Amino acid sequence: MKVGFIGLGNMGSGMARNLIKAGHSLVVYNRTRSRAEEFRPLGARIAETPGEAASDVEALITMLADDHAVEDVMFGPGRAIQTLPAGAVHVGMSTISVALSRRLAGAHQEKEQHYVAAPVFGRPDAAAAAKLFIVVAGPAKQIERCQVLFDATGQKTFVVGEDAPSANVIKLTGNFLITTVIESLAEAFALVRKSGQSHCLQRRSSGTMAE
Ligand SMILES: NC(=O)c1ccc[n+]([C@@H]2O[C@H](COP(=O)([O-])OP(=O)(O)OC[C@H]3O[C@@H](n4cnc5c(N)ncnc54)[C@H](OP(=O)(O)O)[C@@H]3O)[C@@H](O)[C@H]2O)c1
Repeated sequence: MKVGFIGLGNMGSGMARNLIKAGHSLVVYNRTRSRAEEFRPLGARIAETPGEAASDVEALITMLADDHAVEDVMFGPGRAIQTLPAGAVHVGMSTISVALSRRLAGAHQEKEQHYVAAPVFGRPDAAAAAKLFIVVAGPAKQIERCQVLFDATGQKTFVVGEDAPSANVIKLTGNFLITTVIESLAEAFALVRKSGQSHCLQRRSSGTMAE
């Protein structure tokens, strides 16, 4: 597939490498150019602007830091939404707000482009190993079309529905769950320690308290 890829950070660089390995033809853009240059020897074309990365592709993947970064590359004169061909699909894989995801869905529809939200679970080592868990929502036909991209970057795809922002709801809820579990564990350990029962938390040769 002809793929534009924007955002070659800790997550995006591993994902882009895996797409190239799987035989996709990539044009890459990164705000800090040196990171994009690393992809030239791998056969990727380097775009000068986000708009250039989105033109003449079948799919555009964004893997950017946050809402602000996605807005910066997608909206405004010469940005990706202006150049993505009609009929092409934007696969938004960054962790972004539900509101921005909904704005993207509307903006792409106006331009007769498609939009699939596909945020991920997994750390950069999982991204490098193509072991991400990908939560996907959007038009069924577009999800089917993009499955080859998900297969190249993840170990499992969870399709949650046709309304793209619903994938962002699941991703943000998952992050909420993970952080609150970590916080609860910290509180539980602190409580036991402060009660003078630290010995209960020490690993024993026969096992731990949890067992
Ligand atoms: N790291 C994780 O464990 C993890 C796990 C799951 C999901 N995620 C999500 O995946 C996304 C990417 O994470 P990451 O760890 O790869 O982050 P990262 O290493 O900080 O990379 C962020 C990328 O966004 C670009 N960027 C930031 N602000 C920009 C702007 N205003 N305009 C254009 N480009 C901009 C950066 O470009 P420069 O190179 O120029 O800075 C870089 O390519 C985030 O949404 C994150 O929440 C991360």
